[in-house]
Amino acid sequence: MENTRNPGLVVISIGIGLAVIFALMGVTGGLNPSNLAYGLAVVSVVVSALIYIFYMRANAVTKTGYAALLLVIVTGLIIPFLAFSQPQAQANAQAQQYDLTLKRGAALFGQYCSTCHGFLGQGLNGPQLNDNSAVNKLSDQDLTRIISGGIANPSDPSKLLMPAWLNTYGGSLTQDDITYLVALIRSSDPQYRSLNHLENVNGFDYVFQSLTNPTQIAEYEAQKKAGNGPQKPPATSFVDLSSQKTITIEAVDDANNPSGFGWQIVGHPGVSNVIIAPGTVVTWVNHSSGSTPHDVVSQPSAAGTGKFPDSAIMAPGAPGYSYTFTKAGDYPFICGIHPAMTGWITVK
Ligand code: HEC
Repeated sequence: MENTRNPGLVVISIGIGLAVIFALMGVTGGLNPSNLAYGLAVVSVVVSALIYIFYMRANAVTKTGYAALLLVIVTGLIIPFLAFSQPQAQANAQAQQYDLTLKRGAALFGQYCSTCHGFLGQGLNGPQLNDNSAVNKLSDQDLTRIISGGIANPSDPSKLLMPAWLNTYGGSLTQDDITYLVALIRSSDPQYRSLNHLENVNGFDYVFQSLTNPTQIAEYEAQKKAGNGPQKPPATSFVDLSSQKTITIEAVDDANNPSGFGWQIVGHPGVSNVIIAPGTVVTWVNHSSGSTPHDVVSQPSAAGTGKFPDSAIMAPGAPGYSYTFTKAGDYPFICGIHPAMTGWITVK
């Protein structure tokens, strides 16, 4: 039987099929940039239409003419698309590279820095790093130097306020790791982002996706809820010990707390909020199990009353930390290592 299929129709079907595939790739992002995909879809239709006309109209003499015309048109269509898509593709690759840098920085931050600076960089016993105006003023070189070499205690240079992180200074991070962390901290400064034409993304938002450990995830959620703003009085119950001269608050194991630990007023299981009279000495002790350290970090209160000095890190069984509250006011506190451990002292 004779083959009656019209080659022109076959060509135009293939062309339209290709156009649909390219358009779908553009819509779904399967081909990037999407402009290139739409461009290819248009080229497919135009080229197949031209080939169709060529088959319908051509005879031996005109074939050569049409073929030449077709080549010129196809080339003319492809050149602007290539010229247009090249810088676009390059910018795209750069943006992807930057995104990867931020994600690497976020994973390192969650692992190495969050215990002191908070998962959101909001600051715990180390300062806030997420869009902190003082940190934003540091140059990239200053930031790199501080993270690499740590910060010495001015009153005792043999002790460090923050450890050195670069491996050649005894730290656990490489030069590249520190570059990622600097990029992460920089990305939290909106002015830096716009000056350097960077993607409008704060890398600290990537810390959460880098966490795999359920305890860390629960901590992250607790810190996110607490934020870094002034604390409001807790809804949970207070115990009134205003008739006592001294009270003790212990860190204990607490299965109900996301961190696995909680503060507790001695003699009042499950209660971490207390009312005391001015002049009362409050002592915090570490009675949790294992070798877990805790510390006491004063938080700002919504009432705006003053903070008290933070404790040193308390190893289990170590003598506690004491502070005498003389001024009436609200004094929320957390453990800087386990920020989900919250407590509240009201002096009246
Ligand atoms: C053991 C707690 C601790 C850890 C962990 C820690 N830091 Fe710090 N960091 C501090 C303290 C405390 C300070 C403030 C020292 C001071 O008072 O000058 C500080 C200061 C900084 C500063 C300077 C901020 C400023 O205002 O000048 C930067 C930047 C910084 N840390 C980055 C990091 C990075 C990045 C990591 C993770 C690799 C990290 N830190 C891990 C405790 C820590």
